[in-house]
Formats: sequence, C-alpha cells, structure tokens
Amino acid sequence: MNRQQRVAATLPTPAHSPPPLPAGVEKERKSSFCHRVFPLLLLTLYAVGSVLRLALSSPFPSSFVQSSASSFSAELRQEVESLKTHIPSETNHLQAHEEHSVAPRPPCSGLIDGRADGAAATKDTALVCCDRSHIRSDLCYARGDIRTDSRSSSVLVYGAADGKAPPPPVEKIRPYTRKWDTGITATIQEISIRPLPSAAANGSSSSSSRRQAAAAAGCDVRHEGVPALLFSNGGYTGNLYHEFSDGLIPLYVTAQRFRGEVVLVVAEYRSWWLTRYRPVLERLTKYKLVDFSRDTRVHCFSEMILGLRIHGELIIDPWLTPNGNSIRDFQTLLREGFNGVVQPKPPLPESPPFLRPLIRSSHRGQCGSRRPRIAVFIRKGCRVLLNLRELARTCQRTGFDVQIVEPKRGTPLEVIHHALAPADVMLAVHGAAMTHFLFMRPASVLIQVVPLGLEKPAEEFYGEPARRLGLEYLAYNITPEESSLYKIYDRQSPILVNTSSITSKGWEEMKKIYLDKQNVKLNLKRFSKILAQAYTHVCGH
Ligand SMILES: *[C@@H]1O[C@H](CO)[C@@H](O)[C@H](O)[C@H]1NC(C)=O
Ligand SMILES: *[C@@H]1O[C@H](CO)[C@@H](O)[C@H](O)[C@H]1NC(C)=O
Repeated sequence: MNRQQRVAATLPTPAHSPPPLPAGVEKERKSSFCHRVFPLLLLTLYAVGSVLRLALSSPFPSSFVQSSASSFSAELRQEVESLKTHIPSETNHLQAHEEHSVAPRPPCSGLIDGRADGAAATKDTALVCCDRSHIRSDLCYARGDIRTDSRSSSVLVYGAADGKAPPPPVEKIRPYTRKWDTGITATIQEISIRPLPSAAANGSSSSSSRRQAAAAAGCDVRHEGVPALLFSNGGYTGNLYHEFSDGLIPLYVTAQRFRGEVVLVVAEYRSWWLTRYRPVLERLTKYKLVDFSRDTRVHCFSEMILGLRIHGELIIDPWLTPNGNSIRDFQTLLREGFNGVVQPKPPLPESPPFLRPLIRSSHRGQCGSRRPRIAVFIRKGCRVLLNLRELARTCQRTGFDVQIVEPKRGTPLEVIHHALAPADVMLAVHGAAMTHFLFMRPASVLIQVVPLGLEKPAEEFYGEPARRLGLEYLAYNITPEESSLYKIYDRQSPILVNTSSITSKGWEEMKKIYLDKQNVKLNLKRFSKILAQAYTHVCGH
C-alpha cells in the first residue's frame, strides 16, 4: 500500500541519523559499543512499529474523496516537490499592497465573492466570466448547466452561449495562486471553460455547437444547489509554507462564505494532502472532495468558481473578505479542527520520532507557580542548530520548560498542534517549519533565528505575518561568527561581511550559499538576551 511505503520512506530511521546533539554526548557513549547498538536496535524497531501503526491506525479513510483511484504518480511527485523551495520575488511584497489599489473591480469579481453588485441583474442567465485583474491569481465564474469533463481538462457550461453571436470565447485558467511566478504557473494544469448552447435548445445555434450540445454527456453525479470551487493542488504543494500560504489560506478566503455548502473540486489532487489537512478541510466543506483529474465521471453543478483569492504571504486582509474575516479567524478554524481530532489509539508516539521528552526547568521565576514553555523546532540537513543541548540548558536556566520538536514530512499536524498549544514561545531557525507559528496563541512569542543573508525572506515570509497575527515577534540575526560559513570563508569575504552582494544576485545564489550550506552555532550569551526578553513578555515584570 502506497501510504505506508511513502511514510516509511519519508521518515529517516532515527538510528541511522542521530540528532545533531553535541559531540560531548557522543564521546561519553563511545566507550560502550554494545550499550549503544542494542538500544538503537530497539529504537529502530520502535520507530518502524510506530510508523506502521500510524499508517494503519490513520483515522482518515479515503472515503472523503469522490474517487479513490490509484494515486501513485501523485505520491511520487510529492517527493520531488518537497525538495523545492519557494522563490521570493523582489517585488513580492509590493504586490501584496498593490492588491488593495486595483482599480475598478470587474463585474465578475462580485459574482466570485458573492457580492450583490455582481449578481443582481443576471440572476438566471447562464454565463462564464473571469476576473484577471489581480497580480497573484486569476479567477473565473460559471453559471448554468455545468458539467465536468476531466478527460479534456474542461468544464462545459451549457446555456452560456444561448442567443449570443458570436458565441462567447473559451476561457482558460490555471487555478493556482502564484500567477506572477510564471515558472511555477506554467506547470499547473490548465482548465478550459467552454460556454455552449443549452443541451435542450438546439434550434438556433450553429451546427458545430449544436453537435457539441447534442453530445452533452449525462450527469453521473448531480450536486443539486451546491456550488463548486475548483483549484489546483499542484505547484509548490509539498512545502509546508506554500501549503498554507498558496493553498489553505486562499482556500479559506474564497470558500468560507459558503459555510460548508460548497463542493471542492481539486485538480492535481494528492491523497496525502487530504490526510494531512482533513480536519481543516472538513470545516470548509460538508461534502466529499472531487478529484478532478482521476474522477472521470461527469459532475454537474449550477454554479462554479475556478481559482482562489489570495491577499499575500500568509495574510488575510479583513477589508477584502466578504465578512471581514482575518487571519485570526483562520487560526480559530485550525484550532477547532486540530483540537477536535480524537487521538487515535494507541496514542501517537510522544518522544521519538517527533517530540523529545519535555525538559523541565527548576528555575523559580516571576511566572509564579507556572513555568512558561518554549518549543524549539529543530531541522536536519541544513540550518541546523549546532549547539542544541547548550541552547536547551540556557532556555532552562532562563526559566523555560523546553519542548524540542522535530517535525518531519510525515508528522501529523495534530502532533505539532498539541506540542504548540501549551507553548508560550516558539523558537526556530528560518525555514518552512516556521509556518507552524499559525498554531500559536495570540500574544505568545515567536523567535526566529535568522542565518546570514536571510534577513529579507525571514521578515517577509514570517516576521510580518507573525506580527499581523498578534504574536510578539523577535528576530535574532546571527553574527558571522555564529554561522558555519565563518569556518569556510575568509573573514573579509563578502559572503560574511556584505551578504547583500550575494543576495542581490538572485534567489539561486542565495539558496546555494545561505539556505543550503549554512548551520548555526548560537552565541548563547548574546542569545540569552532574546530569551530574557521573551520570558519577560510572557511572565511580565
Ligand atoms: C435537439 O433537437 C431535436 C429535435 O430537433 C431533439 O430531438 C433533440 O432531443 C434535441 N437535443 C437535445 C440534446 O435536447
Ligand atoms: C556590498 O555589496 C554591494 C553589491 O555588490 C555594493 O554595492 C556595496 O557597496 C557593498 N557594501 C559594502 C559596505 O561593501
């Protein structure tokens, strides 16, 4: 079975890649080889067992999807996607602001957003229209006798060409939220929306469209009175940041006004995505998802929106949502979703592989009887915290209980949610796992360790969104001495002393040097100031 293989493949066995703990610990144990091997063997068995158990006890049967055809190709593709990282654009940030100033909204936008100005006059006429006025995404709207035709990657709208000469054009859309990022947009499945004469009235139109109308396929599945929302699950899906920023948040923005009365039609659907986000998706729709690419049945609707609205990076602008919802409302939805997840039995493993045992502080601080908790997210491969053990001790001495979290590709989000729910502070080195800050309570603290050369994406992707969420955001920009690059390059090298000379060359250069090749050894004396600041914020004076 696919999922098991995938989960097993994506979780590195702890035994073969021990966590990057300080060398001292390793030395202590080096003497007794047997003492090490036996527990490791047990640990391996435990980890494999847990993985299998997780896969088997998954509380999510695949029946939430209309078609459960094999999704092997999608699974394979995910491995590739997860290696990609996003490409921030120089103008990225401006774009978020430009969204506000987009001059007169095309009438279609009212139909898409369910505003009265769009709907009024044409209530009963079938039509197809598109709003291509935004920089980040195109959206289309269709009304009439709508039938999916996934074999030709089309949506047929019968009735939309009635009494119109010349017949309205076929509209094409790639329903993904990174329109400005032309490279990735080109990889998104293109959907054609074809206005056709009514399947019933075939007298007056041209012979070719009459033929098409006569060939109108019958409905296999009729969705009476429930609109459809079609979007793509492709692009950068596979990277946590993008799953939220380009996917779930725009989905929330576009779909929440239906209060569950909407059918989600997903192009380039991936089954793991549903497994992961089911608690959220179930709060956006009361209906089963339609896997547009593999479900070849004809689904019939009377109304459909194609594409998603997006306001910016991890942003929801209450001025632009139909009922003034903000990122806080999205957060509430997350909380309700993941709190509602009943822990499967046997319980999810608490220590390896995802959460390390809680390190308690004996410090009696100003927080009274309560000890505040810090959740430290660690990474493997790159941007690793090299002195994690010492860091944990410093956190402890400051007065925090320390929860070390090691998220992996297959980590169920509810595990992270349960780890973050009691946390007062989240600490992570810049990277996609930072996105988990969406689980933090308002007024809690987010500390981002910013490696050399990454100040801009750190601020743009996480700093600003975190502040908008109402978190106390603290950026810790490391000094060259705290970077592993310090050992590799000459002290005077522009890579260390003038990072903008590298980052100005573009994303590829920045990724090659600063994202992929850099680890961090915190100067704990300097860092403890940030910790103290966080502690004061949490506990008051
Ligand atoms: C088209 O019109 C013919 C009669 O001219 C009718 O028999 C047929 O059912 C119509 N086609 C459809 C799809 O309704
Ligand atoms: C840093 O590099 C940029 C771009 O190469 C250059 O314009 C700037 O003068 C440099 N700054 C310093 C302080 O060397």
